[in-house]
Amino acid sequence: MRSTMIGGPPEQHFPASPFRSMVESPEIQLIAPTVSERSSWRTLALIELAPSILAADFAHLADQIQSAEAGGAALLHLDVMDGHFVPNLTIGPPLVASVRKVTKLPLDCHLMIENPDFFIPIFADAGANWISVHQEICLHLHRTIELIKHHGLLAGVVLNPATPVETLTDILACVDYVLIMSVNPGFGGQKFIRHSLTKLAKLATMRAQRGLNFRIEVDGGVSLETVTDVVRAGAQVLVAGSAVFGNGSPKEQAQLLLKAATQATWQQV
Ligand code: DX5
Ligand code: ZN
Repeated sequence: MRSTMIGGPPEQHFPASPFRSMVESPEIQLIAPTVSERSSWRTLALIELAPSILAADFAHLADQIQSAEAGGAALLHLDVMDGHFVPNLTIGPPLVASVRKVTKLPLDCHLMIENPDFFIPIFADAGANWISVHQEICLHLHRTIELIKHHGLLAGVVLNPATPVETLTDILACVDYVLIMSVNPGFGGQKFIRHSLTKLAKLATMRAQRGLNFRIEVDGGVSLETVTDVVRAGAQVLVAGSAVFGNGSPKEQAQLLLKAATQATWQQV
């Protein structure tokens, strides 16, 4: 069943390139290795920054989003909470539809809700481009992932800090991305849980061993202090709320994070 609550086909909002943050930010180009250096360096991953609007000033949301976009954001992360799966209430489909009108960036909707199958068509109609669901709440995870794909969206699965990556063994081949929570979901501004680094690295190894190509996303406590470690552990899509919106200009904070993240992708071989 496809909801007609909120109009607008999400497909028209996909960007030309998922790597726009790498090619359009002059600051990133400044720190790229020269052609001669590239023979001794290898790029481990292309980084996409996904600012979480949870930490934004909602009274000036359009301006905040445009500033983060100018700083190199590749997508926007929208945290949907229902007060049941997590102890907080945040945004719903009407806000997603409003954000859809002020940016062409892909909208990455992180559903921290019970009964996600009911809401997936509604968020698709609101303008979501990526939807992720928690492994912990989906009794029929394969069916839920297929439902997201049925709506033409990228489908992701999320793991809480206490859920082992091995629980995803039989779904990895079906997903477009895996989101590793590096805080307990529900709130922004929490302390990064360092065990997440082990999980990111394990997931990257599983992906390599099986020849899969899903993206690896990390969410929670990503900042200038932790970004190098998460990138070196294998994260490619970096969700950052407080680090982008919690301290001055979102544009400048996004640029700083992307600089640090991109530097971390280069390792001497
Ligand atoms: C937490 C949310 C996060 C949150 C991250 O449940 O999923 O996306 O916004 O906020 P920071 O970056 O401040 O930890
Ligand atoms: Zn999130």
